[in-house]
Order: sequence, then structure tokens, then C-alpha cells
Amino acid sequence: MGWMEVGAAEEFPLGSGREIVVGGQIVAVFHAEDGFWAVDGMCAHQGGPLAQGKLDGHCVTCPWHGWQYDVRSGKHLLTGRPMLTVYRVENRAGRLWIEVPETVEG
Ligand code: FES
Repeated sequence: MGWMEVGAAEEFPLGSGREIVVGGQIVAVFHAEDGFWAVDGMCAHQGGPLAQGKLDGHCVTCPWHGWQYDVRSGKHLLTGRPMLTVYRVENRAGRLWIEVPETVEG
């Protein structure tokens, strides 16, 4: 897979998240004060839509039952355990690119 372009940076408003599908993966992209971060779009609890969660700094709160994660590390805030896949994001001249790892087929 590798790096894939996912749209204009201005389509990802500051202080919120947006769900995209890239390389067959549901990914939540967040625009924090210091840049863009991307993790699994589905909550590790019961699959809630993390991109619709409230973003506070680097903390996103799942809209379904309130689990909280650091969008930089994918770690659950209470336990400190990494629970979400983290995707690398780059803003290249106003376009966002996300690195999607190879998936093992079959
Ligand atoms: S599905 Fe996210 S907290 Fe339950």
C-alpha cells in the first residue's frame, strides 16, 4: 500500500475528526493544534465511530460509551495500553497523505 493521498488539508477542520476509508481501512483523522493525527476509525470497545468523538487536545472521547484515547499513540487513556492502530500522516503542500501498511491477504 504505502502512502496514499486522502484529500485537501482544509477539508479536515481544526479541533475535530473526520472518518475516511483508505486502503480498505476505516481511519479517523484528527486535526489538533499541532497537526494531523490518524488512528483506527472504530473504537476498540464496540466499534464506535471515533471520528465523531470530541477532540480535546490530543484526547478523543468515543461518542458511544466514553472511552478515551490519545490520538498520537492510540493508547487508551486510563490503562495506557495501545489499543488503536496509528497511521502516519503528512501534510504535503496542503494535501494530506496517510501511510497504510501492507495487509496480509488470505
Ligand atoms: S464503542 Fe467506544 S466506548 Fe464503547
